[in-house]
Amino acid sequence: MLLISALLPLVPLLSLGTAYSTLSDNTLKGIPSPHDEFDIEKGAILAPILRPRVSGTEGNEAVRQHFLDFFRLQLPKWKVELHNSTSTTPTSNGKEIPFVNIIATRDPPGMDQGEIGRITLAAHYDSKLTPTDFIGATDSAAPCAMLLHAARSLDDALTKKWEMMAAEGFLDLGGAEGVQILLLDGEEAFQSWTDTDSLYGARALASDWEYAFHPVMSTYRNPLDSISLFVLLDLLGSKGPTVPSYFKTTHWAYKNMARLERRLRENGAFKSSPNHASKLAKRKDKKPRREPHFLIDENKNDNSFIGGFVQDDHVPFMARGVEVLHIIPSPFPRVWHEMSDDGEHLDMDTVEDWSRLVTAFVGEWMELEGFFDYKKEKRDEYEGKSEF
Ligand SMILES: *[C@@H]1O[C@H](CO)[C@@H](O)[C@H](O)[C@H]1NC(C)=O
Ligand SMILES: [Zn+2]
Repeated sequence: MLLISALLPLVPLLSLGTAYSTLSDNTLKGIPSPHDEFDIEKGAILAPILRPRVSGTEGNEAVRQHFLDFFRLQLPKWKVELHNSTSTTPTSNGKEIPFVNIIATRDPPGMDQGEIGRITLAAHYDSKLTPTDFIGATDSAAPCAMLLHAARSLDDALTKKWEMMAAEGFLDLGGAEGVQILLLDGEEAFQSWTDTDSLYGARALASDWEYAFHPVMSTYRNPLDSISLFVLLDLLGSKGPTVPSYFKTTHWAYKNMARLERRLRENGAFKSSPNHASKLAKRKDKKPRREPHFLIDENKNDNSFIGGFVQDDHVPFMARGVEVLHIIPSPFPRVWHEMSDDGEHLDMDTVEDWSRLVTAFVGEWMELEGFFDYKKEKRDEYEGKSEF
C-alpha cells in the first residue's frame, strides 16, 4: 500500500502487476486449509467431482453444474462463462460430442478487457472413458478442487487490494492483473492419444481465442495475449510427487513456486512433510528427517533444459505463444489411468499442500501481501475438524 503511493509520482506505469512481492511468514502460515470440504465422501468441494465425468455424459454435466454452483454461491464476484464446441471422436460413430470449458474470471474493476493481463490457472475436469467407471482422482478431480479452493482463498484479498487501488486512483493508470480459472473439458483421448483424439476443449478454446480480437490499440491483442502465465495442474494428489521444471522461459516462475514450497515447509505449513508437527508427534525418535520437495528443480541450470515435455492442455496455448508453467509430476503417479486412481488413493495431506502452494503462488503473483485477513479462517481451523 505504502510502496504504491510512494512510487506513484515517479513511475506510474512501472511494473504494477508484473512485479513480484513475497508473502510474509504469517500470511503463509495463515493460508486456510480446505478442511473437510476435501473429504472424498462428503466434502462440499471434492466429493461431487469424484465420479465418472466423460465428456458428453450426464456425469460430466453434473460436475460442471457443481462448479457453476460453487462460483454462483461462494464466489459471486467472478464472471463465469461457458465455451462450447463439438467434435466427433473415434468412438462416437460420427456423432458430435459437446465439449464445454468453464472460464471463471476475476478482473480488476472498471478496466477495459484489452487492458487486463491475467494469471491463468487450468485443470481438466473430464475423465477418461476407459477403464469403465474410471474416476481420475488425480486426473484431474483433485487439481480442479485445488483451483476452487485457491480462488476462494484469494477472493477477499483481491477485493481489498482493488478497492485500495481504486480509492487511490491507481486502477485508472492500467497495468493491473486479473485471475482466470479454466476448467477444461475433453482432455482425455477416447481411444488412444493422437493430435485429434485428445485436448478437445483446450484446442477449441485456444483456436477461438486467437481470433477474438480486443479493440485496436489495446495493450493485449486477444485473450491469449492477456494470459501472463498459463499454470496447468495435472495428475496431482498422490504422495511424494516430483515435479520438474519443463520450460526455460518460465523457469523463473517455477523458482518462485519452489521457493514458496520451501518456505511453507520451513514454516511448518506443509502437512505431508515428514517434519510436520502432526508427523513428528507420532514418531518415537522425534528426529528431523530429510525434507523432500515436490518441485525438485529449484536449482536447475539454465542450460540444462533439454526440451522434452508432456502432452497436455497447455499444448494448443503454447503453440500460440502463451507462456506455460506445467505442474505435473514425472514420473506420473503409480495410479495413472488405473482404476486405483480414485478418492481412496489420494494422499489428502499432499492434496492440501498443493492447494496451499498454489494459493500462495497466486497470492504473490497478485501482490496480495497485506490484504489477507486469515485470522478468522485460522481460528475456524483450530476449532473445526481437520482430520478425515
Ligand atoms: C453451452 O453449453 C451449455 C451446456 O450444454 C448450455 O447450457 C449453454 O447454453 C451453451 N452456451 C452457449 C453460449 O451456447
Ligand atoms: Zn488422463
